[in-house]
Amino acid sequence: MLKKMINLAFQAKEKAYTPYSGFKVGATVLSEGDLFTGCNIENASYTPTVCAERTAIFKAISEGKRSIDKIVVVADEEDVYPCGVCRQVIREFAPDCEIIIANSESDYKVYNLKDLLPNSFGPNNLKGRDI
Ligand code: THU
Repeated sequence: MLKKMINLAFQAKEKAYTPYSGFKVGATVLSEGDLFTGCNIENASYTPTVCAERTAIFKAISEGKRSIDKIVVVADEEDVYPCGVCRQVIREFAPDCEIIIANSESDYKVYNLKDLLPNSFGPNNLKGRDI
């Protein structure tokens, strides 16, 4: 399963739309038994740019999924980690998510979101509020 996720992430990376940075990233999410891939999509106005990780996560959520088990991230450079915004988006759906930073099928590191985003703010902080 992990090898497949890494291969799919490399395939997704090739679809990245990166006319401004040339920095292509791919991601694969395992969500409730199904796989979703994503690439980064840049924008001339810069701010709307979305990372590969969020593309993959939002594809899963928009298909009705509500949790994530694992996410694989690949890029042309070695050891590319999710940005802070993506860590927070992962936190929303998977406080215990495995994050795999892959350079190839056999060269990868496995982290837990809790290592990459300690003391996080999440849905539990807003529970029970009278709105
Ligand atoms: N990027 C990602 O897609 N994921 C990361 O983990 C780091 C950064 C993208 C956003 C932008 O298109 C480009 O890489 C340069 O920041």
